[in-house]
Amino acid sequence: MHKLIQEHRKRFGDFEVIEFVDEEKIEALRNDIDVDVPLELNWTWNYGSEVKELRNLYEKGKVNQWNAETDLDWSVPVSRDEFIVNPEASLLAQATRLMGKDEVTQKAAAFDEINYLLSQLLHGEQAALQLCGQLTNVCDKMDEKWYAASQVIDEARHIEAFAKFMQRKMGTIYPIGGTLKVLLDILLRAESAQKKTLGMQTLFEGMAVGIMDFMRSQCRTPLLAELLRRVEQDESRHAAFGVLMMRRVVREASTDEKNELEDWAFSILEALNANQQLDMLHELGPKYDIDPEQITRAFLGMEQWATVNSIPFMHTVIPNLRNLGLITERTQAQWRRVGMMVESAPGVKGVPVAAAG
Ligand SMILES: [Fe+2]
Ligand SMILES: [Fe+2]
Repeated sequence: MHKLIQEHRKRFGDFEVIEFVDEEKIEALRNDIDVDVPLELNWTWNYGSEVKELRNLYEKGKVNQWNAETDLDWSVPVSRDEFIVNPEASLLAQATRLMGKDEVTQKAAAFDEINYLLSQLLHGEQAALQLCGQLTNVCDKMDEKWYAASQVIDEARHIEAFAKFMQRKMGTIYPIGGTLKVLLDILLRAESAQKKTLGMQTLFEGMAVGIMDFMRSQCRTPLLAELLRRVEQDESRHAAFGVLMMRRVVREASTDEKNELEDWAFSILEALNANQQLDMLHELGPKYDIDPEQITRAFLGMEQWATVNSIPFMHTVIPNLRNLGLITERTQAQWRRVGMMVESAPGVKGVPVAAAG
């Protein structure tokens, strides 16, 4: 199968990682802000509702609007002197503890790690805003256009909420990691509406829900927990849109087309997984005398590695792909081999389409 980002791959034992080390190349990726994207615009003259579930989702989106400025209590303090999340949930807190660093350093390391992760979620939110804007053009039914338009305002609100949280409470927004930039550009540049929808709505929205839900479960900061809860509620609606759209696409696809979508979904998430946390470790590791390669090899060597590693994947995106028929007998061994899928993991569930719709 074709693997993405070949030029940055190397082997750590049995595992193939993607590692960006050349600062100039990363900078060039970040400076590539003028991206050509193919768009096929579809008019429709049918203004009635054709897809009832999508209309319901749109109605639900209208009712559940919220205001990032007034619905969050921005007076709640966030402190570097306390663990922002449980230390067990922070790779850098664990690493600094094992290195014998004091608790002040462990707390600062956890704070920086969450700050980095939130920054990447923020950049992902910008991609979602832009991709969803594309969907208002490429979708051919009015229900889809209305729904996509309602998601555009959700994504703007998510950008607002995350950006304000970091500007007001954390002080830093870290730049986008190389792996994420490449993958988001692939989604934004995807030629077909099917791939745009699968890539953003099913894969990245599904991952976002998994990551945010885990972060929220480990969060010790009430303001962040509330922010995540609200964003997550919107994201599960977005992932439900992905499932509803892709269900129809898969039903209408030929075997070859379906296989192509299945392989493409794997290649995107495989690349995301192959980075492990190396982009973060290259950014923050030096500050805490942490060697990115050493800590990643240690993590990959853990007995429970696959169980821990698969948590955000098993949460939403894998159950959804399975339900859609986009992880089949043909490919599931690959998902297991790279630690994205395990037999069962705590908290496994698909996106609650019925609940969201
Ligand atoms: Fe979002
Ligand atoms: Fe979203």
